[in-house]
Amino acid sequence: MTLRPGDLDLADPDVFVAHGGPPHDYFEMLRREDPVHWAEPPPEQKTISPVERGYWVLTKREDCVSVSRTPKVFSSHREGPFLWQMDDAGLAGVQTQLLAKDPPEHVKYRRLVQRGFTPKMVKGIEPVIRKHAREIVAEVAGRGGCEFVTDLAMELPLTLICELAGIPLEDRQKIFDWSNHLVGADDPEMSQGANPMESSAQMWLYCNELAAQKKESPDDTLISKYVHGEVDGEKITEVELNNFFVLLSVAGNETTRNATTHFMRLMFENPDQYELLKSDVDRYLPGAIEEALRFSPPVMQFTRTAVEDAEIRGRKIKAGDKLYISYPSANRDEEVFPESMTFDITREKNDHISFGIGEHFCLGANLARMQLDAILREVLTVLPTMTLAAPPRFQRSHFIAGVKEMKVRW
Ligand code: HEM
Repeated sequence: MTLRPGDLDLADPDVFVAHGGPPHDYFEMLRREDPVHWAEPPPEQKTISPVERGYWVLTKREDCVSVSRTPKVFSSHREGPFLWQMDDAGLAGVQTQLLAKDPPEHVKYRRLVQRGFTPKMVKGIEPVIRKHAREIVAEVAGRGGCEFVTDLAMELPLTLICELAGIPLEDRQKIFDWSNHLVGADDPEMSQGANPMESSAQMWLYCNELAAQKKESPDDTLISKYVHGEVDGEKITEVELNNFFVLLSVAGNETTRNATTHFMRLMFENPDQYELLKSDVDRYLPGAIEEALRFSPPVMQFTRTAVEDAEIRGRKIKAGDKLYISYPSANRDEEVFPESMTFDITREKNDHISFGIGEHFCLGANLARMQLDAILREVLTVLPTMTLAAPPRFQRSHFIAGVKEMKVRW
């Protein structure tokens, strides 16, 4: 197959709609023929793509890993880690986020909240997580069917992020709506006509009120830690606090909800694996969770920008070039994962990178894994006859692999 530059514009959400998710055939071809691919949208697409000057698409796991692990050369800060072009003000805002900091600053900011996410801390709240999961499933069990995303997948991550951050539980619908408006900006049904800038502004006001309360009465929540934290003897600024709040609300919420839904979708699509899992949930569930994360990563990409000239597989990367890290492609790299296109819950070695890797490795990975185990274990044991009632509907996005609706019955 001959490659045309820009033959698929990965910044165009409709490319993902057309392929029903990541364009795996295209990625497979790139891994084989041009693993470090310069993608430049053709002129007729330039109005669609926010990245008009082109970018490198990394499709091999090894390259995605080494770029993520070399923040001194491949920066998250310089242009932010997102695949959209921003004006200077937008970029300056993004650059205050933890996700968009480079070392040495990154480490200092991450340290402020890292302790809230250790395996020990997650183990400590395991009973609370399992109790919530039992209640969520018990609530729908008698109904014979439900809408999986809102009735089962949404509640646990949302409740936990509120509890950890110190957001009153009665406000969780607000957090849900705001974060949907932000990550659903490319999907009219999710953004519900809301202007993402307005939703950010509302989050900002809300966060300021919360911060004022935590200033008065400090507690053990993450927002309180940020409010009272210092970096190099300086208090955290309002902008930094607000951006952390947005990051937590989105990162802790959308991702885990989608991971939970994709897991069940994959079970319905692979009945033999579903039966195997149900034959011994204790034995197969941990591997099945990792395999679902590998097969359908909820976050499809982040980007980096080269701050100096570099070379990857002989391709010359120039300072200022953007690089696209494809998690779905890295996770199906046939050099690393035998039968990489097969969904196999008994896979022995599963080094997927759905939580990223290196400097920015997902802070919430332990927490997400615990939540997935809690809710899915409950679903599989209380509602073992669950089947799909209507085809799932997917979010229009080039960034989040989201499921908007999945009707199930049992
Ligand atoms: C299945 C669920 C999740 C997935 C797939 C996921 C994915 C990711 C990925 C790919 C990154 C790396 C970003 C990069 O390299 O630029 C990341 C970072 C991050 N995640 Fe998650 N995430 C999940 C759940 C969570 C949860 C539950 C939380 C919080 C409660 C969370 C908080 C964060 C934060 C704060 C960062 C930034 C870390 C840093 O910049 O140092 N994530 N996540």
